[in-house]
Amino acid sequence: MIKCAATIGWATRHHFVADDGLCETSPAQMATPSRKKSPVNFLLFIALLVIAAGSAVYAFLHPGPWIVPEVAKQVPNPLKASQADLAAARKLYSDKCADCHGDTGKGDGAQAKKYDPPATDFTDAAHMSSVSDGELFYKISQGHRPMPGFKKRFTEEQRWQLVIFIRSFSASTAPAPVASK
Ligand code: HEC
Repeated sequence: MIKCAATIGWATRHHFVADDGLCETSPAQMATPSRKKSPVNFLLFIALLVIAAGSAVYAFLHPGPWIVPEVAKQVPNPLKASQADLAAARKLYSDKCADCHGDTGKGDGAQAKKYDPPATDFTDAAHMSSVSDGELFYKISQGHRPMPGFKKRFTEEQRWQLVIFIRSFSASTAPAPVASK
């Protein structure tokens, strides 16, 4: 305390006299390598490290909300729904999507139980009508843990076909509606 007072002057010391902490962190004091390593600081460091690692793991397992850029939502489906598109997408779907989203799109695939949030139920018409084609396309392309992104695996055309296909799960009458959004 005396040393500290000497470094920063009496007037200042008078100011901070009740607060050793403030005094200790004054730049003048930091320049002198007189600080002893205390086991408390070390433990604090370890604790912070554990907290940081813990939150990283938590963030990994619980990704934040799935944010889709407005521009991406506005992109219209360049394809007109055709039987050929549906047939092509059905294959891709049963190969790469059904494990999680289920054969009938209910979000009840073999792997589905493992995930939180659960795989989206494509038969939920209310939900499906609340999302645009562009949004579905974006989501299929980018993925969102645990769902993988399919940008590299599928061509743009294939991803738009999938959009048509997954919409067909919630359409009471076939085939999938063509979005005009
Ligand atoms: C490993 C499991 C898994 C696989 C494989 C998978 N999904 Fe998903 N999918 C999910 C999960 C889980 C969500 C919900 C993620 C969220 O809400 O954060 C999701 C969400 C979606 C959504 C967003 C729906 C919405 O309205 O928000 C679309 C679209 C989608 N999946 C399409 C597909 C397509 C198409 C395929 C195959 C090419 C596929 N998924 C493969 C797990 C999977």
